[in-house]
Amino acid sequence: MATLDELLAANPVIPVVVVDSVEDGFNVGKALLAGGITSAEVTFRTAAAPDAIKEMAKLEGLTVGAGTVINANQARQAIEAGAQFVVSPGLSAEVVRYCQEQNVPVLPACTDGTHIMAALDLGVETVKFFPATALGGIPTIKALSAPFPQVRFVPTGGVSASNLADFLSLKSVASCGGSWMVKGDLVKAGKWDEITRLSAEALEIARSVSA
Ligand code: 3PG
Repeated sequence: MATLDELLAANPVIPVVVVDSVEDGFNVGKALLAGGITSAEVTFRTAAAPDAIKEMAKLEGLTVGAGTVINANQARQAIEAGAQFVVSPGLSAEVVRYCQEQNVPVLPACTDGTHIMAALDLGVETVKFFPATALGGIPTIKALSAPFPQVRFVPTGGVSASNLADFLSLKSVASCGGSWMVKGDLVKAGKWDEITRLSAEALEIARSVSA
């Protein structure tokens, strides 16, 4: 299994996926891959998540993780389903410890210095910054980087094609997450081509920053 650093280096954009069925998950996975995106965070906001992870993990070239994991029980379900990484919308020591025990990369969210210090105590130096734009976006990340230069952030929440390049330009930003290329209405309407188009656009933006 890839480490978190390897995973983020290979995936500058991590789509946050919400699906109501395994079939939708599989189609989303195919649409992302067709646009060049090679990872997906399937959220535990729907009951379909574990089975969707299992099915999507069969797609060659797609690294499938679990998102919105808020307790160790969900982390266990996610890992049993084959999740290659686990993302939380906050910092739960039990989720982090469980994933560490299972040797699965874990990305908890932190929003301030107190959370970051708790994450560092748990041996975590890369954190999700959520909800990124609502919390002030780039100026907030820069401010947090001053006392915590070792910490890398994955901004998520309000990231889109219009601000992705700005976030990725920051040295302290490892990668960005977001749902803008896999919005629920696109999934519900089966607009797989549009998901592919938005994925390709996101990837092009990410590549233009790293070039
Ligand atoms: C998440 O869980 O990370 C967010 O729901 C994604 O936020 P976005 O929908 O604003 O991209």
